[in-house]
Amino acid sequence: MSFTIAIDGPAAAGKGTISKALASHFSLAHLDTGLLYRAVGAQVLVGANPLVAAKSLHPETLEASTLRSPEVALAASKVAVLADVRNELLVLQRSFARRPGGAVLDGRDIGTVICPEAEVKLFVTASAVVRAGRRYEELRRIGTVISTEQVLADVLARDARDTGRAIAPMVPAEDAVVIDTSDLAIEEAVAEAIVIVQKAREL
Ligand code: C5P
Repeated sequence: MSFTIAIDGPAAAGKGTISKALASHFSLAHLDTGLLYRAVGAQVLVGANPLVAAKSLHPETLEASTLRSPEVALAASKVAVLADVRNELLVLQRSFARRPGGAVLDGRDIGTVICPEAEVKLFVTASAVVRAGRRYEELRRIGTVISTEQVLADVLARDARDTGRAIAPMVPAEDAVVIDTSDLAIEEAVAEAIVIVQKAREL
């Protein structure tokens, strides 16, 4: 039986942590769909054509650690406005979503475009300042030298591009449950998400 959890929201709101925790708690496969766009963006930074890069993507071989830089994030959000790139990645994401045993996908348009029929939809968000603070800490931990002002500017620029684009803009699905993590510890946010999914599994 397939069971899909769609998790959307802006950068550094806690989607990734919640997605991984749900996947582990309910024994579901997990796909961080941002990595697909990051992999295409990284190829474009070294001169590739975006559609060619999207077509030659192998999701099983994506190495997350090499795709975490702010430059790659920005490049990802630029290729993410291209219709042919999104269509190419859509097929791949849909087949992952409906795999037997169930799946958690996190991104920007999972509940609205990729899996409108998902059994659970969450929209995880937080204020831009809180998200920039978290992203700054993450980047610092992996040794990136960057100012807090620059991180906030990057977060705001990416938000604007993701919400303002014509195709698959980042918006909560009408039937998504919104979790605002601005004032929540990550354990509290995870606990809230687990309760929501548990209820849906009992239906
Ligand atoms: O989630 P992450 O920050 O890794 O995503 C990088 C970029 O990829 C986002 O800013 C967004 O532009 C794009 N993206 C998207 N749709 C998704 C996932 C990511 O457009 N489902």
